[in-house]
Amino acid sequence: MPVCIHPRPSAHPLGLPLAISAVGLAALAGCAGPFKAPGAGDSAGQTIGVYSGRHYNTDKELYRQFTARTGIKVTLLEGKDDALIERLSSEGKRSPADVLVLVDAARLVKASERGVFRPIRSSVLERQVPARLRDAQGRWFALTRRVRAVVVNPKLVPPASIRSYADLADPALRGKLCLRDSRSVYNQSLVADQLIRRGEAATASWVKGMVANLGQPPFTSDIPLARAVGQGRCGAALVNTYYVARMLSGQAGAEDQAAAEQLRLVFPVPAHVNISGAGVTASSGKVAAAKQLIEFLASPSGGEGYAGANNEYPLQDEGNNPILKRFGPFQPDGVSAEQMGAKNKAAVQLMHANGWR
Ligand SMILES: [Fe+2]
Repeated sequence: MPVCIHPRPSAHPLGLPLAISAVGLAALAGCAGPFKAPGAGDSAGQTIGVYSGRHYNTDKELYRQFTARTGIKVTLLEGKDDALIERLSSEGKRSPADVLVLVDAARLVKASERGVFRPIRSSVLERQVPARLRDAQGRWFALTRRVRAVVVNPKLVPPASIRSYADLADPALRGKLCLRDSRSVYNQSLVADQLIRRGEAATASWVKGMVANLGQPPFTSDIPLARAVGQGRCGAALVNTYYVARMLSGQAGAEDQAAAEQLRLVFPVPAHVNISGAGVTASSGKVAAAKQLIEFLASPSGGEGYAGANNEYPLQDEGNNPILKRFGPFQPDGVSAEQMGAKNKAAVQLMHANGWR
């Protein structure tokens, strides 16, 4: 059985904070896995630049696997999503990025509106990525799914009392609800989703009702929110499930693990599903190689690793992650990522108009 040696991160001549250099192609003999992108040989030896809003060490391992399988080297720049969009726009044609990876449908749509993606056609991606999780023009494709669900402390709020997002506006939760602030794109996308599903009037009164139920000023991130619910300082909150999974796994420390054991995760029916995704940049001169990387990340083997890194859901099913299995199944609501992104501005306005700070 061949032993595959993965390259170690090294400094990049362009000064990018992290670069993954490829192993010599000779060392790769026998290291190709089941994935072999069509035409992989043509791009072997090329180096593609990836700008990514994701920050997980396991992502780097996947890029190394991609290099081992295709001979295409990857240099990686990680940053905040919005800063990466700005950087790509200002770099224009000179940008070293061939692939842009972003978190949240709203940011993918924003990046397409800024013209930083190039539309591509790929029968592999059209097969692997459900239509509602990719751009109709082929500018971006989902790689993972993320669900914004409800966590409750069963000592304060009966889990069975929450069946839908609408239930969070029930006056029975007065003083018990905690929320992250309205600057969170996760909340903006959830409100956009509800705008699409329930219309403006119902969504406005839902937001107003939730704001009236707040027991504390809005939080600035999800983990402290889930921690406060686990520790009984809040009765219910909205969080992305991967934060709860991270806490349960012990990765966030023993205190958060203990807090997570005290809370109950409830999937509203139907559940709002967001994505992380990627597209080929408008500036890329290596479109075939860039496309191959996205195809690899969207493939069942690549996708499992990409989703698993952050306890997210793969594109098609619920995967094999034991913590996600513990959460049980959820019923996606069917709103497309593109629709959600297009409603971002309306969602933000509605949140502000109804007191969600
Ligand atoms: Fe997140």
